[in-house]
Amino acid sequence: MNNPFRIGILGSGQGSNFMALADAVAAGKIPAQIALVLSDVEAAGILTHARHRQIPAQFIAPGPFRTKLDEAAERAFVAALQAAQVDLIVLAGFMRVLKGDFLRAFAGRIVNIHPSLLPCFPGLQSWKQALDHGVKVAGCTVHFVDAGVDSGAIIGQSAVPVLDNDTPETLHQRIHAAEHELYPRCVAALARREISVVGRRVIWRKS
Ligand code: GRF
Repeated sequence: MNNPFRIGILGSGQGSNFMALADAVAAGKIPAQIALVLSDVEAAGILTHARHRQIPAQFIAPGPFRTKLDEAAERAFVAALQAAQVDLIVLAGFMRVLKGDFLRAFAGRIVNIHPSLLPCFPGLQSWKQALDHGVKVAGCTVHFVDAGVDSGAIIGQSAVPVLDNDTPETLHQRIHAAEHELYPRCVAALARREISVVGRRVIWRKS
């Protein structure tokens, strides 16, 4: 491929979604290259996994805030992603809200995965919110990132049952497994440019 579609992945945690994506790239299921992995957590598993796979991986100190990047960090993230010439930014467990300058730099090119069937249960520990609410079906959502929290246009969703004997952990595990199938499928469609957005509706077109 002459000009492969280039993906930048941001994560703060263990990186199981990163691994599902990297496996799908390696298997030729996503026609793209993972150009860069960035984390705000120096010891994050996602960086270790990326380095094992010889994918450029970098820690960028996030600054003093707990839920967002400070201005210098935001500039450093944007600069690294621009230098890597990414076509798409994939958030895979990145635990900070991205703000205006970052969003403007990559308008319409940032996606996230959230462990609930949005718009239900945005925010933290959605699997626990789902159990506490008593829903019978839970799941995960891949969506474009906008200025809100888990509020952008929905690209894809996958549902899992909630079982009577579920604990937060067992439900979370079932949702996580669904994520590992859904995210590569959505990112593959984006890389193939089969996705278009009409208002809030995301349309999948086979090329
Ligand atoms: C996933 O549950 C995802 O939905 C949420 O963060 C978690 C990341 O998990 N946004 P991992 O680091 O990919 O294992």
